[in-house]
Amino acid sequence: MSSERIIPIVNLSQSSPATPPAEETPTGLLLDSRGRAMHDLRISVTDRCNFRCVYCMPKSVFGKDYPFLGRKELLSFEEIERVARSFVQHGVRKIRITGGEPLLRRGVEDLVAMLANIQDVELTLTTNGVLLTRMAARLKAAGLDRVTVSLDALDDAVFKAMNDVDFPVSDVLAGIDAAAAAGLAPLKINMVVKRGLNDHGILAMARHFRGSGHILRFIEFMDVGASNGWKMDAVVPSREIVELIGTEFPLEPIDPNYEGEVAARWRYLDGAGEIGVISSVTQAFCSSCSRIRLSTEGRLYTCLFAQHGHDLRALLRGGANDAQLAGFIGNLWRGRSDRYSEIRTAETAALRKIEMSYIGG
Ligand code: GTP
Ligand code: 5AD
Ligand code: SF4
Ligand code: SF4
Repeated sequence: MSSERIIPIVNLSQSSPATPPAEETPTGLLLDSRGRAMHDLRISVTDRCNFRCVYCMPKSVFGKDYPFLGRKELLSFEEIERVARSFVQHGVRKIRITGGEPLLRRGVEDLVAMLANIQDVELTLTTNGVLLTRMAARLKAAGLDRVTVSLDALDDAVFKAMNDVDFPVSDVLAGIDAAAAAGLAPLKINMVVKRGLNDHGILAMARHFRGSGHILRFIEFMDVGASNGWKMDAVVPSREIVELIGTEFPLEPIDPNYEGEVAARWRYLDGAGEIGVISSVTQAFCSSCSRIRLSTEGRLYTCLFAQHGHDLRALLRGGANDAQLAGFIGNLWRGRSDRYSEIRTAETAALRKIEMSYIGG
């Protein structure tokens, strides 16, 4: 395999200038070795899922003998809350609960209630949507601010081929409606686009969600994990998607909501709302990446494409006090230099990385 870069994704001279390792700034902001603040904590609460999306948990790997984590290995809700509070002291202002499928974790609404008690933090959750009909109202009552729902196609045959467990589109659409009715808004809908699999459904998705008040986002198929058979040929560059939709419904770019937002925003000129494109492959956004990820078993990952995590559970269960916990997190972030999507090659794509279902999106 060649070590040539797969595509001229970014101008490396413009991205991620490496600043000297930073101490806490005069404003108290914790910065990593590239000058990036920590803003967004993503907490995975289960490595299990009721879907087997072909680009995430292919059945050939995640079969009935797959060694999912056992109950004792999972961080308890009390442990998660303690860690979350420490992160918030370090500057985190957004917490996203992920999985696997987070709504499969028993009592997840209790965790939502515990995290919602933390001041000054937006609390969100990413789900495949099928359990929302049952759970949306409870989640809202527990203090969840909003949800992001994954939906890769409106055509049942395509959707079933992608989730590989025969869930119909109608279950997800009902979940989306339940979330909207419960006030978990604005909803975001994530469509992972894989060439040859669901790219012919892009316009149908745009038509369906225009004017709904929900924000549809198209995600470039990524080389996360080590089991999804990623190939550059299967990536549909976001600019193609914007062009395609723009020919039917003219679009214009709009400013990000906040520094480091993952999706680039476009709005319909006729006022029917906005879409987003998440271009991790063709336009890397590492230079402003403010995200840190906590796995179900309490390992910290400073990049979605990391190969190794840092064991926070051992610290927690070894009796560390709050200052020691905060020190561990601070040191980890200060030493962070990840920029995987800027330096992706065919060789890095083939590396054994953590699975998306283990760490969440
Ligand atoms: P909001 O703006 O609050 O909605 O958060 P978000 O844009 O981070 O939303 P979400 O968590 O739904 O992220 C959307 C998708 O973008 C994820 O599911 C991933 O597929 C991808 N993504 C998110 N963060 C990263 C990241 O740090 N690196 C890469 N490469 N992809 C990411
Ligand atoms: N590439 C891009 N997005 C992915 N997701 C899962 N696997 C991939 C991949 N290989 C998305 C899901 C969901 C979010 C958690 O991450 O569809 O929207
Ligand atoms: Fe699909 Fe999300 Fe489940 Fe992965 S975690 S298999 S993307 S529903
Ligand atoms: Fe952040 Fe890593 Fe994604 Fe780059 S590849 S945006 S550093 S998580």
